[in-house]
Amino acid sequence: MSANFFTSLNWTVMDKTTLFIQVCYTVAALVLVWLLHYVFIQPLNRIRDLCDTGYQDQARWDRYGRTKRQLANEARRNKKVGDVPPVFPNGWFALCESEDLKAGQVLAVKALDENLAVFRTEEGKVCVLDAYCPHLGAHLGIGGRVVDDCIECPFHGWKFSGHDGKCTSIPYSKGKVPTSAQVKKWPCHEVNGFVFFWYHAETDKSLEPEWTVPELDVISSGRWKYRGRTEYKVNVHIQEIPENGADVAHLAHLHGPSMLGGSDLTSIDKSNCPGKLNGTSAPILHHHWEVGWQGPEHGAADRHIAVTTIKHDLRLFGRIPFILMEVEAKQIGPGLVYLTLDTSLGRCVLVQTVTPIAPFTQRVLHRLYASPTVIAPYAKLILWGEAIQFERDVAVWNHKTYIRHPVIVSEDRTISKHRRWYQQFYSENSPRIETIMENRKGSLDW
Ligand code: FES
Ligand SMILES: [Fe+2]
Repeated sequence: MSANFFTSLNWTVMDKTTLFIQVCYTVAALVLVWLLHYVFIQPLNRIRDLCDTGYQDQARWDRYGRTKRQLANEARRNKKVGDVPPVFPNGWFALCESEDLKAGQVLAVKALDENLAVFRTEEGKVCVLDAYCPHLGAHLGIGGRVVDDCIECPFHGWKFSGHDGKCTSIPYSKGKVPTSAQVKKWPCHEVNGFVFFWYHAETDKSLEPEWTVPELDVISSGRWKYRGRTEYKVNVHIQEIPENGADVAHLAHLHGPSMLGGSDLTSIDKSNCPGKLNGTSAPILHHHWEVGWQGPEHGAADRHIAVTTIKHDLRLFGRIPFILMEVEAKQIGPGLVYLTLDTSLGRCVLVQTVTPIAPFTQRVLHRLYASPTVIAPYAKLILWGEAIQFERDVAVWNHKTYIRHPVIVSEDRTISKHRRWYQQFYSENSPRIETIMENRKGSLDW
């Protein structure tokens, strides 16, 4: 063996070591860049389907090996519906987020048991029409094409105006367009990053909204930063979701345990929640809540608005508050809430929309916007914490029944007040579950 051989071998080993170190540095740098991007720039996006919340423990121990989806379907079939109010209240409901509807795009949206075609013209105007073409019933939202301010049916090319739903042309016909060639046009309004439509069960009120969705200047002006969204499907009657804001007593019990405990109801340790006084020691971390619910004055013009005020702090060892937040939740009609959060770093607003897709299937969206002083990681932590707390409610809602005459104590009185307030969103022809099930004669499987 010559000396040259050992020299070249040595170099080879060194080359490999250097190369390995360089690869490690590059990977570490990429991970760091991704991490910084994730923490400081990328908005949070958390999506949970019907089976994702409230079935973890059941699926873990199920002796038949059923999946969470199978368990969720079974729970939906077996759930006792209860003596529920009408299933679709009157008001504004979100159909999609603005960013999901580009110019010239069409979406097929199911909401309040209606099949809708939602589209945006090249000029940016949003239109909402009934989805089924009156010619031979094709779905305008699936394969339909936006042409000027019309939507063209994918089947034979009839065009319908986004302004009034009337058919404007039949490409192969030399005769006049029949006057009955028309689809229903729904009032819609794009504001605060959402597309809303107005639903009213009474025909004479379905075209003229009784109130408008207030615009939040901090969002439309772009002054506050968008920090993320969460999206849920929930198996519950719509009224139960806002009722949660008036249910003062559940906060200490369900939302008191630290958010670090997650949302699996079986693994949250509620034994030593402060206020329960049956624990042996104070928990290291817990949430402390002070809540008030306020409906409008009788006869007030804004009687469709109710306000929940919350003082929240996260406490160490049951005593030392270290994350303080004051929250005002403004419920605007049955399908919209503005949560203003005053944190120690500045203000945020969380817009929550609730849209019934079907009688017991709600789609709930949250979008968080924060003032410039609220740094991205903190805003995302707030949104994540809110998501965990919300999922605890979802886990309960997915399995609970509605009780029309609940057994309550004096501390629960705001629940009754809330139910009285919510009555205003139902009218004579508001759809009832019995009628819908009778018409559908199908199952609730999904
Ligand atoms: S079904 Fe729509 S044009 Fe024929
Ligand atoms: Fe709750």
